Amino acid sequence: MTLADKTVLITGSTDGVGRLVALHLAEAGAEVLVHGRDQGRGESLLAEMKAAGNGKGRFYRADLSSLAEVRGLAKTVLDNHPRLDLLINNAGLGSGPRREQRDESRDGHELRFAVNYLAGFLLTRLLLERLKASAPARIVNVASLGQHPLDFADVMLTRGYDGSRAYSQSKLAQIMFTLDLAEELAGSGVTATSLHPATYMNTTMVRQSGVSPMSSVEEGAEAILNLAVSPKLEGESGVFYNGLRPARANSQAYDLAARQALRRLSLALTGLS
Ligand SMILES: NC(=O)c1ccc[n+]([C@@H]2O[C@H](COP(=O)([O-])OP(=O)(O)OC[C@H]3O[C@@H](n4cnc5c(N)ncnc54)[C@H](OP(=O)(O)O)[C@@H]3O)[C@@H](O)[C@H]2O)c1
Repeated sequence: MTLADKTVLITGSTDGVGRLVALHLAEAGAEVLVHGRDQGRGESLLAEMKAAGNGKGRFYRADLSSLAEVRGLAKTVLDNHPRLDLLINNAGLGSGPRREQRDESRDGHELRFAVNYLAGFLLTRLLLERLKASAPARIVNVASLGQHPLDFADVMLTRGYDGSRAYSQSKLAQIMFTLDLAEELAGSGVTATSLHPATYMNTTMVRQSGVSPMSSVEEGAEAILNLAVSPKLEGESGVFYNGLRPARANSQAYDLAARQALRRLSLALTGLS
C-alpha cells in the first residue's frame, strides 16, 4: 500500500487506536495531519513518524468541545493543505469514570454529543468541498456498537443523565450522519462509512470507564484502515461495519424522519443552517 501523494486527517490521533492508525498511514507514506489536545503528545507522535522515515506529518491542536476550535481546525487545514484525501473522525470520550456526572461543552451542549458527534459533523461539513475536490476521497466515522436512540425531546439529556446512554446516543448520531452524508455524496467520488472498530480495546477511554479491556488497538486499527484505505472497499458508501464485516446499526439509523430531525438540529446547533 502506498499513500505517498495522499493527505489524511485523523482526529484524536494523539492516543489510543487513532494514534496507531496515524502511524500506519505515515508508514504507508501519507502526509498525516495529527490532531489532539496536547502539543507534547502530538509532537512525540510526529517524532515517531519521522524516525520511521516519514517527516511530512503536521500536528494541529484543537479542543473539540468548542465549536469555535473546530472551525479554527478546519480553517487551518484548508489554509495549509490544497488537498484532503481522507478524513477519519475518531476523537471521542467514553462514558466517563462517573456515569451520573453530566458535563457540558463550551457551547453549553451535552459533552459527549458535542465532542463525539457534533464536532465531527461540523468539521466534515467545513472540509467537504476540499474532499470533493480531491476525489476519490473517503470519510470514515469511528462509531461503536454501543448505540442508543436519540430522544429528540431531550437530546441534551437534561433529565436522568447516564454516561453510557450519552456515549451511545452520540455514536448512533455519528452513524445516522454517515448514512445521510453517503446519500448526499452519491456520485461525487467521496464515500462515507462508519464502524465499530473493536470491543473494549485497551485504551484510555476504556480504562477510565473502569472496564477490563478485551481487545487490542491493533485489531481496531485494522478495522479502521480497512474502511479508510482498502482498495476492496473503493466506492463503498453508507455502510456500517462491525470490525471487518458489514453490520446493521440500531434501527433509528434507517429512520429517514429521525435522520432529518438530527440534520436540522445539527445545522442549527453549529450555525450552518
Ligand atoms: N476503545 C474501544 O474499545 C472503542 C470501542 C468502540 C468505539 N471506540 C471509538 O474509537 C475512537 C477512539 O477511541 P480510543 O479508545 O482510542 O480512545 P482514547 O485512547 O481515549 O483516545 C481518544 C482520542 O480522542 C481525543 N479527544 C478526546 N476528547 C477530545 C476533545 N475534547 N477534543 C479533541 N480531542 C479529544 C484524545 O485526545 P487527547 O490525547 O488530548 O486526550 C485522544 O486522542 C472513539 O471515537 C471511540 O468512541 C472505541
